[in-house]
Amino acid sequence: MARILVTSALPYINGVKHLGNLVGSMLPADAYARYMRQRGNEVLLICATDEHGTPAELAAAKAGKSVAEYCAEMHEVQKALGEGFRLSFDYFGRSSSSHNHRLTQHFAGALADAGLIEEVTERQVYSHDDGRFLPDRYIEGTCPNCGYERARGDQCENCTKQLDPTDLINPRSAISGSTNLEPRDTKHLYLRQSQMREKLRAWIDSKTDWPVLTTSIAKKWLDDGDGLQDRGITRDLDWGVPVKRGDAEWPGMEGKVFYVWFDAPIEYIGATAEWAEATGQDDAAWERWWRTDKGADDVRYVEFMAKDNIPFHTLSFPTTIMGSGEPWKLVDYIKGFNWLNYDGGKFSTSQGRGVFMDQALELLPSDYWRWWLLSNAPEGSDSDFTWEAFQSGVNKDLADVLGNFVSRVTKFCRSKFGEQVPAGGETGAAEAELIAELDKRVNAYAAAMEAIELRRAAQELRGAWVAGNEYLQRAAPWAVFKTDPEAAAAIIRTALNLIRLYALISRPFIPDASAALLKALKLPEDAAQEWPAGAEAALSALPAGHAFDVPDNLFGKLDDAQVAEWKAKFGGGQ
Ligand code: 2FM
Ligand code: ZN
Repeated sequence: MARILVTSALPYINGVKHLGNLVGSMLPADAYARYMRQRGNEVLLICATDEHGTPAELAAAKAGKSVAEYCAEMHEVQKALGEGFRLSFDYFGRSSSSHNHRLTQHFAGALADAGLIEEVTERQVYSHDDGRFLPDRYIEGTCPNCGYERARGDQCENCTKQLDPTDLINPRSAISGSTNLEPRDTKHLYLRQSQMREKLRAWIDSKTDWPVLTTSIAKKWLDDGDGLQDRGITRDLDWGVPVKRGDAEWPGMEGKVFYVWFDAPIEYIGATAEWAEATGQDDAAWERWWRTDKGADDVRYVEFMAKDNIPFHTLSFPTTIMGSGEPWKLVDYIKGFNWLNYDGGKFSTSQGRGVFMDQALELLPSDYWRWWLLSNAPEGSDSDFTWEAFQSGVNKDLADVLGNFVSRVTKFCRSKFGEQVPAGGETGAAEAELIAELDKRVNAYAAAMEAIELRRAAQELRGAWVAGNEYLQRAAPWAVFKTDPEAAAAIIRTALNLIRLYALISRPFIPDASAALLKALKLPEDAAQEWPAGAEAALSALPAGHAFDVPDNLFGKLDDAQVAEWKAKFGGGQ
C-alpha cells in the first residue's frame, strides 16, 4: 500500500466552470484518486476554490456584492457542482482560509530569510478618497493621443495606444470617480526566481518519466530569458492574504496583499490543513502529507492541471517550496492537459460559450459527461467537444455496450431462472476464452491508470465491456436454453458475475452506474472498494442462489431530435 497525494488545479472563484475546465484537472484527478483508492492505497484528494486577485474583485463588483460575500456564495455553488459530478475530494477548501493566510505568510518569511525576496520601490497612483493605490486599469482619464475620455491607465480602448497612468489627462479613480490622486512611492516584494534557475533545471532534468507536455513547457520557460524573471508577489488590493513576514508585520507593506498566484498553490497545503481541522485531527495529520521530516517522504504527490498552469507548478511553486529551505514535499508527477474545444471554437467563460457544469447536470446525469469527457480527454493534443461525438459516445459505449449487456442478461435470467444466480451446468472453452480476453483488458486498463493515460484506460475498459457482449453473442444462451437449460444456466451465471466485475472496474469512470449495478446485485456499496484479483476468480464470485434485481435502464440513448435541440440551445463554437 502506497500513500498518494493528489491535487487538482484550483478553479477560480469567479463563476461556474465549463466542461473544458472540468476535464482539464478536477475530473481526471478524481478518476485517478478513485482508482488508486480501489487498489488499496491511502489516497488524499485535495482541491479548493482560488479566491483572490482582481478577477474575484471584479466578479464580485459585477454581482453587486462584497468580495467576501461573493466568494462564500460561489464557493458553495462550486462545491455543490463538484458533488454533482461525484468528484471525490477528501476536502474542497478555500484559498481565503485562515490556514492559507498563515502558510502563505510563513513561506514569505522563510523566503525572505533565505534572501530570495527583494523589496523594490515603485511609483504608483494613490487615491486619497478610495484610501488605496490604484492598479493601472483602475485609473481612467482622457487619452493624450486621441482625446477619448474614458481611456484606462494601461491602454486606450479607442485608439489602442498603450498608456501609463501618468500619461492620462484629468486622471480619476475608476472605483469612485475621485480626482484626488497623487503619484506616490510604494514598496513591493519581488521573488528572486532567477536565483533558482540551476536548481530548478536539475530538478526538472531528473524527472525523466514526466509527460512531454509538462517538461517541454517547463524547459521553454527555463531557457527563455524572460521566463524566470524576478516577479512581484504583492499587490495593492484589499482582498487577499495580508503581507506579513511570518507572524510579524512587514514594514512598508501595510495594506498590501500577496499576489494571487503566490498564495494559490500554497492552498494545496492550506486545504490539507483545513481538512485535518474539519475532520477533528491535529496538525500531524496534514503534516504527514506535506512535511518530509514528518512522514511525507514516502508520499507520492501527483498534480493535475491544464497546460496554462504548468509554468506556475514547475517553476514558481517549486521556487517557493525549495527556496523556503524547509522540508516541504515537492511534486513527484505533473499530469498536464491540452485544451478541450467546443465545436471547433473555444470554450469561453467571459463569453458564456460552451456547456457549463451547472447546465450539463440539468441535461443529463453526471456519468454521461464523465464517460465522454474522460474517454476524450485532451491528453496528446487538444480535443473537440461536439454534440454529435457526445451522442455517439453515449449511445455506443454506455447504452449499446454496457447498458444493453446488463439489461439482456438480467431480464433473460429473470424470465428463465428467476431473480437469482442460476445453478447447474459447466463452464468450458467459451468461458476460458472470455477469461483470457478479460485478463488482458483489465491488466491493460490498470497499466493505463497507473500511467495516468485516461483515454487509453477508457479504451481498455470499453474493451472489457465489448468482450462480454461478444461472449454473449457467441454463447447465445437464449438458443442453448431450448435444448440444454443447464448449459444456459452456466452462461448466465458467468454473465451475472461479469456485471459484478464491470461494477468494480467501471467505478473510477462512472461511479453512479457502478453503484446502481452493485445495488441490483444486492452487494454492499463498499464492495466496490475491491479490485478483482483476476477474471477467473471474479467470474465465480457470486454463487448460485445469490439474489438480484433487474436494474432500471442504466443509460438512455440520446436521439437526434434531442441532440439537435441542445445544439441549437448552446450554439456553435465558432
Ligand atoms: O488557472 C486557474 O484556473 C487557476 N485558478 C489555477 C490555480 S492552481 C493552483 F496553483 F492553485
Ligand atoms: Zn486614445
